[in-house]
Amino acid sequence: MTQYHDVAKLEDLEPGTCPSVELDDAPGVALFNVDGEILALDNTCPHAGGPLGEGTLEGDVVECPWHGWEFNVRTGQCIENPTPEWAVPCFRTRVENGVIQVAFPPEAP
Ligand code: FES
Repeated sequence: MTQYHDVAKLEDLEPGTCPSVELDDAPGVALFNVDGEILALDNTCPHAGGPLGEGTLEGDVVECPWHGWEFNVRTGQCIENPTPEWAVPCFRTRVENGVIQVAFPPEAP
């Protein structure tokens, strides 16, 4: 069953940034602030395991810091290889009283 977990304060997530957080019993989660919209993906790049939360966010696309693959942070779809095999799982998010919450488990890519 999906449950929401507190992961960060909204005020700590500046627009254009993408930190990663850890959830109990879950893979790391990369958070993205796209012009005030909070989005979340599995932190692990499907290519070779790079940390997407250490990538570069441009609009709604994050570039993996290891080899430069790009992913749409709304859909998890890989820009270079837009197939389900290379998509990153997306987490639903919400903000409650200034706290970002992420739903676990993630939605299938
Ligand atoms: S590990 Fe992400 S592009 Fe290679």
